[in-house]
Amino acid sequence: MENFIFHNPTKLIFGEGQVKEQLAKQLGNYGKNVLVVYGGGSIKRNGLYDEVLSILNEGEFMVTELSDVEPNPRLSTVHKGVALCKENNIDVLLAVGGGSVIDCTKAIAAGAKYDGDAWDLVTRKASVNEALPFGTILTLAATGSEMNSGSVITNWETHEKYGWGSPLVFPKFSILDPKNTVTVPKDHTIYGIVDMMSHVLEQYFHQQTNTPLQENMCESVLKTVIEAGPELVGDLENVELRETILYAGTIALNGMLQMGTRGDWASHNIEHAVSAVYDIPHAGGLAIIFPRWLRHHKTLGERKLVNLAVNVWGVNPDGKTKQDIAEEGIKRLENFWTSLGAPSRLADYDIDDSRLDEIADKTMVRGPFGNFNRLQKEDVLSILKECL
Ligand code: NZQ
Ligand code: ZN
Repeated sequence: MENFIFHNPTKLIFGEGQVKEQLAKQLGNYGKNVLVVYGGGSIKRNGLYDEVLSILNEGEFMVTELSDVEPNPRLSTVHKGVALCKENNIDVLLAVGGGSVIDCTKAIAAGAKYDGDAWDLVTRKASVNEALPFGTILTLAATGSEMNSGSVITNWETHEKYGWGSPLVFPKFSILDPKNTVTVPKDHTIYGIVDMMSHVLEQYFHQQTNTPLQENMCESVLKTVIEAGPELVGDLENVELRETILYAGTIALNGMLQMGTRGDWASHNIEHAVSAVYDIPHAGGLAIIFPRWLRHHKTLGERKLVNLAVNVWGVNPDGKTKQDIAEEGIKRLENFWTSLGAPSRLADYDIDDSRLDEIADKTMVRGPFGNFNRLQKEDVLSILKECL
């Protein structure tokens, strides 16, 4: 293992009824003047908006709203939120939604305390020195943004999408009630499952040694999601299954699995470049890219791939070469995702080879990448061609 310091300051508030129980109390710790941030209307349709607003009114909070945060949230929306914070002297933000709403809120919280353009923070031209406090009510199990300090923002004018982060943008608290996720439609439920599994896989592939507990924990999260995921896709309103998947999504990316190791994260970087150009759902891209990344590393990652195949997928290793076992594991992963209903090729999104070079260039903006194995542009192009 590498030396590490683990500090996750987000207060995680989990379970049914916790919004009613905790929201006013937690938010009140940070002030009375609130910017509520949400997406395109799902919370209005399922009643959560009314519930939140009535709690805030009862608690005598002053409420300003920012709605219509896009999936793959855009810089233009961050700018709107920053302006609202400055004009209204906002004390605290409340994100009510999925990863996109939370990521946008993180950028607004930091942008509101920065004199220049918030894009400087995303591109790391400037560092975050201060941020407004914010809490979240998560409505979609997927990204882990509710308990981490990362955010992904798209500049649609320049077709750039980057991840950034700062210890100052951990949510102060996050309220996770599985009931608030029962209205997530089938496609986004599937994407959420793919995303959280990909987060675990990114962290499973690292170069550090003596990490048995980290590896076992990753395998456990994967097995849990592999068991509950298909049941949930067939029974979307099952609150117990929603609960299992919600908890798994948070554990998958709140730092617990990555202590003492450095996950790879190349597949995420490639996906961000694809969705910067084509605006496809993040996990739709991952379902296509991740198996090809694994295949690209079949020799280098042989030990891990064999463990994945045998320990997670239950592949029988008898009489097979390690390479065959590894390939069987990759196929099982591909089949699992496609059987849920995830896409398997870029063609599923009508993406052809015409802009692959541009996508590969975008992945290289911060130089060769991937902690398990550094990828060069030609590696990315070769992986992308396999994805067509
Ligand atoms: O906008 P609304 O109307 O709310 O609808 C959303 C949106 O259309 C809908 N939805 C959310 N909760 C719902 C619901 N519909 C019905 N009932 C509910 N309870 O679902 C759609 C997708 O929402 P979105 O927030 O975009 O999905 P997700 O949570 O998957 O977030 C994706 C974004 O997160 C980034 C991705 O790149 C992408 O931009 N990521 C953020 C990470 C992080 N901060 O740590 C890590 C991830 O790897 C990822 O890159
Ligand atoms: Zn992801």
